[in-house]
Amino acid sequence: MLSVILIPALLAAEVFAVAFPNEGARLKSRQFDNRDPYKNWPSYGDLPLDASYPMKAAWGVWGADDVNGALNHITDETRRQAASEIQTGEAFNLNLELSFIPYPLLPERRPLVHTFQPGAGYTDDVITLNTQMSTQYDGLRHFAYSVNGNSSTYQYYNDLIPDYDHVIGHNYTSVLGIQQAAEKAIVARGVLLDYKAWMDDQNRTFDPFTELLVPSADLQKVAEWQGLPSNFSRPGDILIVRFGWTAAFSKLNEAQKQELVLGPGTYIGVKADDASAEWLWNQKLALVGSDNPGFESLPLTVTDHHVGWGQSILEFIDCEKLAPALHAKGRSTFFLTIQPINKIGGIASPPNAMAVI
Ligand SMILES: *[C@@H]1O[C@H](CO)[C@@H](O)[C@H](O)[C@H]1NC(C)=O
Ligand SMILES: *[C@@H]1O[C@H](CO)[C@@H](O)[C@H](O)[C@H]1NC(C)=O
Ligand SMILES: *[C@@H]1O[C@H](CO)[C@@H](O)[C@H](O)[C@H]1NC(C)=O
Ligand SMILES: *[C@@H]1O[C@H](CO)[C@@H](O)[C@H](O)[C@H]1NC(C)=O
Repeated sequence: MLSVILIPALLAAEVFAVAFPNEGARLKSRQFDNRDPYKNWPSYGDLPLDASYPMKAAWGVWGADDVNGALNHITDETRRQAASEIQTGEAFNLNLELSFIPYPLLPERRPLVHTFQPGAGYTDDVITLNTQMSTQYDGLRHFAYSVNGNSSTYQYYNDLIPDYDHVIGHNYTSVLGIQQAAEKAIVARGVLLDYKAWMDDQNRTFDPFTELLVPSADLQKVAEWQGLPSNFSRPGDILIVRFGWTAAFSKLNEAQKQELVLGPGTYIGVKADDASAEWLWNQKLALVGSDNPGFESLPLTVTDHHVGWGQSILEFIDCEKLAPALHAKGRSTFFLTIQPINKIGGIASPPNAMAVI
């Protein structure tokens, strides 16, 4: 049983001070030492550290004022070890073209607008995009924990944002903004689990545009099918699941894409249950991602989310060139860099994701 100890705020004190000059640490927090961050590491059953926190939130696990959440799993050692994944030097862009989803999957999301601004001897361009419309990195201000979806109940990682007005209001704060992820310098080992290839190998067909809930037990089977040990991940890894969603979407004609958007919004993804959450928690992943619209299957209910982990998600990752290259070499892991845009207070970003094998 984890002993929960109140400690003074030592980490990210400056950020906290800027956002809330009159408040000190309010959360109960795990006591830890940066030299041995997994000492006193809470098991999934130990979450949350205090009964007053949202269901299964990891508030306080990295300190009361921490703004990086699961990205803390990435250390200098993670980056150094990731470099050994570069063997042939082949590199892969994992970002879809920004207009890959030409029709918004949610009607309120406006399509990208790209305009040119000619100058005297030069040309500028202006891109206005909803960051949810192509490959993306969802930061810690994107999805709130909420008991009912009403913004008056929104709660964010480590309770660092007092209310929704501080996210989008006139006086919005920068805390938990995408600039934190940009500053982190995300370099890690990527692990690809190819669910689509596993299903194909068994001659099992499925429609990725249906609500297909993939249990974590199946992802574990995919790992074993790929020849990985059962404890295949190590702290700081970035897990990418290929469901075959983007490949299937690419094959649709314009009429079918439009029809899909008007449809029920049901898509394949990880089953959002306790077993999946525990499986992910145990792996100490810095990020999770996939090639579908949400890492989890859609639709989901607001309470499905364990966003209280400070766990960012990569969506619409393009693995169509990377996956066959890895399979050809009998590999599942690769060197991965992610560079979100450095926009203070930003919600999400193109991930500028690149794999080298
Ligand atoms: C959200 O909650 C607030 C405060 O309880 C309430 O005034 C408002 O009507 C709610 N909005 C919706 C759409 O239910
Ligand atoms: C926002 O900031 C302005 C200027 O500092 C202040 O007058 C106003 O009361 C603030 N509004 C809220 C909702 O905090
Ligand atoms: C899948 O189909 C192929 C071609 O018909 C066949 O050779 C293979 O044995 C099948 N695999 C399984 C697992 O049924
Ligand atoms: C996985 O388990 C094996 C066998 O118990 C062990 O030797 C190995 O160190 C473990 N690997 C990791 C990354 O924990």
